[in-house]
Order: sequence, then C-alpha cells, then structure tokens
Amino acid sequence: MRGPALACLSLLVVSCRSDPNQPSQDPVPASGGTVSVEGMGGLGGLGGGAAQPPHLIDRPTAYEWDLPQAFPTPWEPADNPTTEEKVELGRHLFYDTRLSSTGETSCASCHRQELAFTDGRARALGSTGELHPRSSMSLANVGYAATLTWAHPFLYELERQVLVPLFGDDPIEHGLGEAADLEEALLEEPAYERLFERAFPDAKQLGTLHQAALALGAFQRTLISGTSPYDAWLNGDVDAISPAARRGYALFHSEKLECFHCHSGFNFTDHVHFADKAFFETPFHNTGLYNIDGQGAYPEPNTGTMSVTLDPRDMGQFKAPTLRNIAVTAPYMHDGSIATLSEVLDHYAAGGRTLEGDGAGNGSLNPLKDPLLVGFTLSDDERADVVAFLESLTDERFLTNPAHANPWK
Ligand code: HEC
Ligand code: HEC
Repeated sequence: MRGPALACLSLLVVSCRSDPNQPSQDPVPASGGTVSVEGMGGLGGLGGGAAQPPHLIDRPTAYEWDLPQAFPTPWEPADNPTTEEKVELGRHLFYDTRLSSTGETSCASCHRQELAFTDGRARALGSTGELHPRSSMSLANVGYAATLTWAHPFLYELERQVLVPLFGDDPIEHGLGEAADLEEALLEEPAYERLFERAFPDAKQLGTLHQAALALGAFQRTLISGTSPYDAWLNGDVDAISPAARRGYALFHSEKLECFHCHSGFNFTDHVHFADKAFFETPFHNTGLYNIDGQGAYPEPNTGTMSVTLDPRDMGQFKAPTLRNIAVTAPYMHDGSIATLSEVLDHYAAGGRTLEGDGAGNGSLNPLKDPLLVGFTLSDDERADVVAFLESLTDERFLTNPAHANPWK
C-alpha cells in the first residue's frame, strides 16, 4: 500500500464510516490519528463525478447572503443553517491561538486574510514546526467547494474538515490531542460564554467541540470573493480592467490555452457545488507536474486522490483551485513548487513540467496527464496579457473586509 500515513490523515474525518453516503453524525474528535481504511479502496478512477452526499442540502436557507452579482447561493449542511451569531463565533475561533497545543497557532496562522487566506509559504508550517507536505489553500469562496483540500474525494463538509487541522497528528497543525483540550481552552475566555449562548440559544451544554466545528463552518461559508476589478468589468464597467487584462481574458478562454475548461465559471474552477445546482460533480485532474518513473508517478506523499482511493489510476489527480485572488497566493500548486504566475504559464505552455535533472521527470510525457494539456506557444506580450488578466481577479474589498478580520484586536 502506498502512502499509508497520508491515507490515514486524509481519512481521519470521513473514513470512520465505510459508506460516504451515510447521514451526518456529530463530528467526533480524532483520538489517535490512525483510522481504518477499510471499504475505501477500489473507489478509484474518480476523474468524473460522485453521488451527492444526501446529508448536505442544496436548497437556500433563511440566511441573507450578501452575494456578488451572478453568484449562486452557497450550499449548507442540513444540521448547520448559517446564522449571523454562528458566523461571529466562528470568526473568534478562527483567529484564536489558544486552540493549539503551543498557544501560538490559529487557523489564521496558515490562512491570512491579506493573502486570500493562504500563508505565502510553499508548504505550511504547523504549530510544532512540522512542515506540511502541501501548500495552504485559499479560503476565498470555500463554501462553494464540492470537496475540500487538494485531493480528498470524500471530504465534503467544512464542519468535518475542521477536525483535520485541529486534531491531525500527521502532520501536526494545531496539535490538539482531544475534544477536552479544545473545550478547556474555550472556558479560559469569558467572551465565549455570550458568543456560544447567542449562537446556540437552545443548547443544553455550551462550548462543545461540535458547536465550535459548526461555527467555524458557518464563518468560512461567508468568505465570499466576487468584487474584483474583473467583476466590475463583467458587470458593465468597461474601464475597470486594462486592455492587456481584456486580451488576457480572451486568451484564457481560447481553444489555444484551454484554461477555462478546468478553471471555469464564477469561481474559476470546475470543482463547485451550490444551492439548486443540477448535478453534483467532483472532477480532479492530473496536470503533468511530475513523472518521476516515466509511468506518471508523483512524489510521495503527494500522489493526489490516489492517497485516499489507493487506485493507481488516481495518481496525480488534484482539484483545480479557484483562481480568484491568485496574484496574492504565490507560490503555486499543491506543493508550492511553482514560484510565479509567469512560470505557471511556462508549465502549461510546455504541456507539463519539463525540468531536467531534478528527479521530477518529464511531466509533459506523463501518461496519466489530462488530454487537454497539449501545450502551446505564447509570445512575451501574450504571457503578460494573461498575467494581467489573472491580476484583475484580486479583490481588495475581500482582502480587507473587516467582517473577515481578527475580532480579538
Ligand atoms: C499549519 C497550517 C494550517 C493551519 C493551522 C490550518 N490550515 Fe487549513 N489548510 C492547510 C493546508 C496545508 C491545507 C491543504 C491540505 C491538504 O490538501 O491536505 C489546508 C486546507 C484547508 C481547507 C480546504 C480548502 C479547500 O479549498 O478545499 C480548509 C477549509 C481549511 N484548511 C480550513 C482551516 C481551518 C478552519 C483551520 C483552523 C481550525 C485551519 N485550516 C488551520 C494549512 C493549515
Ligand atoms: C485539465 C485541467 C486544467 C487546465 C486545462 C488548466 N488547469 Fe490550472 N490547475 C489545474 C489543477 C488540477 C491545478 C492544481 C494542480 C496541482 O497542484 O497539482 C491547477 C493549478 C493552477 C494554478 C495554481 C493555483 C494555486 O492556487 O496554486 C494556476 C495559477 C493555474 N492552474 C492557472 C491555469 C492557467 C492560466 C491555465 C491555462 C493556460 C490552466 N490553469 C489550465 C487544472 C487545470
């Protein structure tokens, strides 16, 4: 079995049940870190779709979303309708360093608002100094993600994902041992009493891990970015973006570059779900970043969805991330291995990464690579145009919105 340690981490939250379509249960604290992977193998070849988890509703709730023009209504779990009060509690928890073994790490350590909730590092650094194998992800529009993290085909709910950074031990992120650690930390702060009361007025017991997970989920669902210069242009302000950015927009959507197939729609990714969407789809793609053995291998432990499904056909399959705010989220890719947007374009132009002599192999010859990635030639001017377009997706209002900022200051 390849990458068993990663499989265990990835499955920490959802593998406790062998059938991913079981109804939602209360999130359970991860105790030891290792969980059986029984029943999860042989689900590979997941390039296409998956059945929608029935415990997630995709009808709009009563919450009044402040949505950008042309944005659909987010989906929400049946047991966690969004409320202002939960969002406010979740914001406090997101920025609270007391929810870590060292008292120094909060979600915001690796998800910084000014960097569209990434950390500026190639690979994330946990509370105890352990390096994460992958790069921190932007949380812009994360409530629209069909599945969560770079390559987990069964992790649907923010409320469950939250347990991975809090309790995961491979790698250590917040480094909490069990639910009691978190619940004790919550008792230390008097402000939480009122915040929990308001968020969960009917609860018999307040300050539980379950409630914290619901609140963190609710807060993250409100991290919506759709007020960039590009959006203003799209909505009729013809001068909101430069002529170069407009040419870049056309190139991005051309048959030559093909970017729009995977980075499609309002969130520039094909990996979205929302209220009233007709089909539930979870596409993953191999973009030919590696080919270490000539058969398509990616370096352990970053083997894509294969690390969860254990199916060799899933080698190198990753989620196409949103490109919103992409100019502030360098370095790029699941392992932060590309430094700049210009170099990202080199990678696509070559039809895969073709670094010589670094052991990465010739990604352009990766037999598992997506057939859309055949490569193209791009002049220096065209490259600058595409970069200008990508820069027009930077949403200053989102990056500085006080509603998403640290409430403890
Ligand atoms: C040590 C750094 C670190 C900390 C602390 C951290 N994260 Fe993350 N986060 C990451 C990394 C790295 C990934 C990508 C994980 C992967 O693909 O396996 C990620 C992924 C995510 C995702 C998935 C995003 C997507 O688009 O699929 C969410 C949601 C998330 N984190 C929320 C949180 C929350 C909430 C907290 C606090 C409870 C938190 N994170 C704490 C580093 C961190
Ligand atoms: C076949 C689907 C597909 C096509 C076509 C495609 N991408 Fe991607 N893109 C992805 C996937 C999947 C990733 C993540 C790959 C990884 O980390 O292993 C990605 C990553 C990226 C990233 C880095 C995102 C981040 O947060 O680190 C950028 C930037 C990007 N693509 C831009 C483009 C551009 C520009 C084009 C057109 C030239 C393009 N993509 C074409 C699927 C695609």
